[in-house]
Amino acid sequence: MRRPLVAGNWKMNGSKKSVEELLKNILAGADESASAEIVVCPPNVYLGQVESLLAGTGVAWGAQNICQVSTAGAYTGEISDEMLKDFGCSYVIVGHSERRTIYGETDELIAERFSTAQQAGIVPILCVGELLEEREQGTTEQVIARQLDATINHAGIAAFASAVIAYEPVWAIGTGKTATVEQAQQVHEFIRSRIASHDADIANKIRILYGGSVKPSNAADLISMPDIDGGLIGGASLQAEDFLAICQAA
Ligand code: PGA
Repeated sequence: MRRPLVAGNWKMNGSKKSVEELLKNILAGADESASAEIVVCPPNVYLGQVESLLAGTGVAWGAQNICQVSTAGAYTGEISDEMLKDFGCSYVIVGHSERRTIYGETDELIAERFSTAQQAGIVPILCVGELLEEREQGTTEQVIARQLDATINHAGIAAFASAVIAYEPVWAIGTGKTATVEQAQQVHEFIRSRIASHDADIANKIRILYGGSVKPSNAADLISMPDIDGGLIGGASLQAEDFLAICQAA
């Protein structure tokens, strides 16, 4: 059985005050007996604050990216695996579509970031997803396969035993448009079968999250699909009530 995972991607949002409020409200409402594992991914500058508020609770935390190089040195603007571990991060998002499209991160760079995290014992959440025009051209599966294979080829399939994948159709991120449960399930099944072609056991165990305008109103339907094991939540993770409702639905 795959334990559902709900991860909040806060993106570039928050202040010391709002982080404190949000986490207090999440902790007050988090049901310890609930089945879903809960993770929040704040901007790096708040990781210390998040660590002190969440240490010893049932809520884990992670970062939104990681440097591909593990050795400390001249990498202005980057954060290393050792630094993330120093702040208690157990997860890190890699290859988010905003990193790919706004910052030009390539499949190869993302594969390197994935490996660095995984080798450091930080669970990478590898994001994949097609653009609207790619879906319209019927190339969704080719795009997902290319993104996935780059990391499989670089990191090796065994690395996926301690990783999470998030399918996020780019056209559904922050737009209020969600993939239908059938569209989402179809791609999730494709991802699992691609992993299975390398290793059936890993495919069976790996959690594949759906992301893109997940809300309390659609979370339960999405997560009830056989290959959808939770969600990567942007906008709705900034409101404790909505985020908790999604965790509950999982
Ligand atoms: P959204 O973002 O929930 O605001 O659509 C999801 C994501 O980008 O991870």
